[in-house]
Amino acid sequence: MDNKIVLEMKGIEKQFAGVYALKDVQFSLREGEVHALLGENGAGKSTLIKVLGGIYRADSGQIRINGNEIKIDGVKDAQEKGISIIHQEIVLVPHISVAENIFLGREPVNKIGLKDCKKMNEEAKKMVVSLGLDIDVTREVFYLTIAQQQMVEIIKAVSFNSKIIIMDEPTSSLAEREVEHLFEIIRKLKKQGVSIVYISHKLNELVAITDRITVMRDGKYIDTKVTSETTVNELIGLMVGRELTEYYTRTKHSIGDIAFEVRNLNKKGTFKNVSFHIRKGEIIGFAGLVGAGRSEIMKAVFGVDKLGSGEIYLDGKLLHLKNVKDAIDHGIALIPEDRKKEGLILKNSVAFNITLTIQDKYKKGIIENKHVRNEIINKYINAFSIKTPAIEQLTHNLSGGNQQKVVLAKWLATDPKVLILDEPTRGVDVGAKAEIYSIIDDLAEKGMAVIVISSELPEIINMCDRIYVVAQGKISGELSRDEFLQERIMYYATGGE
Ligand SMILES: Nc1ncnc2c1ncn2[C@@H]1O[C@H](COP(=O)(O)OP(=O)(O)OP(=O)(O)O)[C@@H](O)[C@H]1O
Ligand SMILES: [Mg+2]
Repeated sequence: MDNKIVLEMKGIEKQFAGVYALKDVQFSLREGEVHALLGENGAGKSTLIKVLGGIYRADSGQIRINGNEIKIDGVKDAQEKGISIIHQEIVLVPHISVAENIFLGREPVNKIGLKDCKKMNEEAKKMVVSLGLDIDVTREVFYLTIAQQQMVEIIKAVSFNSKIIIMDEPTSSLAEREVEHLFEIIRKLKKQGVSIVYISHKLNELVAITDRITVMRDGKYIDTKVTSETTVNELIGLMVGRELTEYYTRTKHSIGDIAFEVRNLNKKGTFKNVSFHIRKGEIIGFAGLVGAGRSEIMKAVFGVDKLGSGEIYLDGKLLHLKNVKDAIDHGIALIPEDRKKEGLILKNSVAFNITLTIQDKYKKGIIENKHVRNEIINKYINAFSIKTPAIEQLTHNLSGGNQQKVVLAKWLATDPKVLILDEPTRGVDVGAKAEIYSIIDDLAEKGMAVIVISSELPEIINMCDRIYVVAQGKISGELSRDEFLQERIMYYATGGE
């Protein structure tokens, strides 16, 4: 591809509190090109595109658009220069409609200067339809699934008619079918000459959709490869600076008695007659399409949502969970899929978040044993290789993948008997994924009952002893290890179509 270069970044540097997040980074983008940024959690990908999108000002370096050196002065300025970002963390306003979110700050007005809701909804509807999507534009964003919210972000970015669209992990909450849809949209945009910066930890996606891949490590530029001339192994090598020998870890160990059992769980309109069990030391997968009801089932089990009817047994004893605190006290932990909404308090520190649910381990009344506290925190920071300059760093300042690791640490610190993980490796780099798999395996070996909800079938197939498949709020299939086949899981996931 020899299209003209539309964007060039050179010598970009950015420090936060004296620590380099970017050091002498370069990047270029051609017209109609999809160019990936690849690197471990904390490598500097989001920081680089935030410089481009006007969120951060670089300490030094040059940015050229169509050959002319420019300064980017804020988000609005970036948008006016034809650059828009779809962020890693969804930044929509929850309690206004889809259409209002798309047109926020530039709502169409009628003849007397008032907001023209009818026109706004019509325009938004047109965009939704033109991208082949099915979303009610008058609905409050709050009520959409994460996948739908991500689609709204995409519609919004496209609606600015930008020449450069940056997508920071756009598929992290999308199911396979939706990813395919996004790729269709990307191909359409390419044809229109739009250039796309694409960030993802999913290497198969990069191979499928990108023209070139730039690898970053520790805030530095490493190399740029033409996608068709490189391999996944070469990319991993560039990314982590070493070979990754083991990806999935599953050690053989014995499986004990039933640890946890759910019988005939019902919640009107959400799920129906759900029964499952898990033994000590077992890893159970919950597969299904996005929206099948897996998260809802687990939230009900964990006491977040009220149950209609059903019974929950722990170690053979019937539980009457009143709320989340009750569930935690009984030794159940749920690591939610949406870390921003349910998992973390971003304006607080890493240390605060990790210890939030385990204060009685180092506190007696108001007396706190700082030493014990810090020991616990450091143990998890090391175990998960959480990249943070200090334990008191605000979680908000961590990279997306490192935030995910803090959520994991926070719940593991409770030492649960039953651990429920909802999309545990979303947004996590390959190296850290391997670490998480190894930790899960370790916990199971120690006798913990682990439930994994995941949309990544290879993850479930390689890590689990048994799989339940959920379709439309019902358990549609149960598979033992010798029956694991991608096609078979998909068969049940689509309700046996
Ligand atoms: N506002 C900030 N204040 C302090 N440090 C920050 C801030 N933003 C980012 N950093 C740090 O800069 C480094 C790069 O972070 P960045 O978010 O760019 O990583 P990333 O490559 O996008 O990672 P991920 O794959 O996890 O999303 C990290 O060490 C992060 O902690
Ligand atoms: Mg990032």
